[in-house]
Amino acid sequence: MNNTSVSLLNTNALNPITTQSWSNGRHVVRCVKVIQETWDVKTFCFMAEQPVMFFFKPGQFVTLELEIKGEQVFRSYTISSSPSVPYSFSITVKRAPGGLVSNWLHDNMIEGYELAVHGPVGQFNCIDFPAEKVLMLSGGVGITPLMSMMRWYFDTNSAVDVEFIHSARSPKDIIYHRELEHIFSRIPEFKMHIVCEQSDKLGEAWAGFRGYLTKQMLELMAPDFMEREVYCCGPTPYMNAVKHLLEQNGFDMKHYHEESFGATPVDVQEDVEEFAELAQEEADAIQASDLLRVDFASTGKSVQIIPGETVHAAASKLGLHIPKACGMGICGTCKVMKISGEVEMSHNGGITDEDVAEGYILSCCSVPQGDVVVEY
Ligand SMILES: Cc1cc2nc3c(=O)[nH]c(=O)nc-3n(C[C@H](O)[C@H](O)[C@H](O)COP(=O)(O)OP(=O)(O)OC[C@H]3O[C@@H](n4cnc5c(N)ncnc54)[C@H](O)[C@@H]3O)c2cc1C
Ligand code: FES
Repeated sequence: MNNTSVSLLNTNALNPITTQSWSNGRHVVRCVKVIQETWDVKTFCFMAEQPVMFFFKPGQFVTLELEIKGEQVFRSYTISSSPSVPYSFSITVKRAPGGLVSNWLHDNMIEGYELAVHGPVGQFNCIDFPAEKVLMLSGGVGITPLMSMMRWYFDTNSAVDVEFIHSARSPKDIIYHRELEHIFSRIPEFKMHIVCEQSDKLGEAWAGFRGYLTKQMLELMAPDFMEREVYCCGPTPYMNAVKHLLEQNGFDMKHYHEESFGATPVDVQEDVEEFAELAQEEADAIQASDLLRVDFASTGKSVQIIPGETVHAAASKLGLHIPKACGMGICGTCKVMKISGEVEMSHNGGITDEDVAEGYILSCCSVPQGDVVVEY
C-alpha cells in the first residue's frame, strides 16, 4: 500500500459518531506522517487501521513495541499531540547519541509502517491536578508532555493562566518553535519564555534569556511562581536544579509534578552470560543462607539472588526476557503475576491498585523479601 492510499483510506473512514475510543491496552497503529521538528528531533503521527478516537490525559505516554535486528524492544514516549485532535496521536523523538530505538525510529519509521503501542498511561498529566494558574518548565525534548497540555488548553479554550518556560541548548534546538509562538500570541493569559544555553555558533543570534535557568530568571518571568501548579520535564540535572530552586524557596512540593524520561534500559539479552558469571561470583561471596530464591513457574526455571536484586534482574540471569521499557515503575511494561512470596515494590504509578490487589507486580522495581514464585 503506498503512502497516499494510507492517508486517503483513513480519512474517508472517519465518522465522529461511530468511531470507537481507545483505552489502556495493546493497539496496532500505522504511521501516517513524519515531521522533522529540528535537526535531531522528529514527530511521528499514528492512526489506527479501524479509526479510533485517541482520548488520553495530556501528559500521558505510550510504550512502543518494535522488532529491531530480530529482537523485541520496548520504549516509552510521551504523546505530544492533544486529545482535542483525537483521530491520530503523535510522539516526538530526539535522537539519543548511540541510542538504539530513537535512531531506529528516525532512520526507519516512515508513512505506512505498522507497529503496536501499549497505553496510554501515566500520572503526569494536567487533568488530575486542576489549577487556575500553572507554571510549565521544560528542558530539551522534555517539552513533549507540556506541549500536549498546552495544545489541550489552547484547543479547549481553558481558562488557565500559564507561564511556560522552556530551556533549549541553542535557537536551532527549540522544538515546536513556530507553533509555540502561534499559541502564545493569541491568548493573553498564556505567557512563553525561552531560555537558550547558547547562541547558534554559525547562525541565529539569541536576544532572549541565555544560560541555565536561575532563580533570578524565574522571578522575572513568573514572579508569582509560588502560587502556581508546577509541571516539570527535562534532563535529570535540569529537574534536580528546578526542584532545588523551588524547595529552597519554601515551595509546597505537593503542587510540583515531574516526569522523568529515565535511565538507559539494560540490554538483557546480550548480557545474559556476563550476568550469570557475575551472579555466581556475588553469590559465592555471601552466605548461602542469605540468598533468596526466585521461581518462574511457567518456564520452570529458578535462580538464587542476592537480597536487593529485582525480580527483573533475577529473570535476566536466567535469560528470561521480561519486556521492559522505563525500568523505573512508570510504564507498566514489565508487569508479571506473583504467585507467592513477598516483594517490596517501589513504583512510580505504573500499576493500578486493582492490579496489585490481583497479585500483579512490576518486575523492574520489585525486590523480593524472601523466596518468591512468579508466573513467567
Ligand atoms: C515515560 C517516558 C516518556 C518518554 N518520552 C520521551 C519523548 O517524548 N521523547 C523522547 O525523545 N524520549 C522520551 N523518552 C525516552 C525514551 O523512552 C528513550 O529512553 C530514548 O529515546 C532513548 O532510547 P534509545 O533506545 O534510543 O537509547 P538507548 O539504546 O536506550 O540508549 C540511551 C543512551 O545510553 C547509551 N547507552 C546505551 N547502552 C549503553 C551501555 N551499555 N553503556 C553506556 N551507554 C549506553 C546510548 O548511547 C544512549 O546515549 C521517554 C521515556 C519515558 C520513561
Ligand atoms: S519497565 Fe516500566 S514499569 Fe517496569
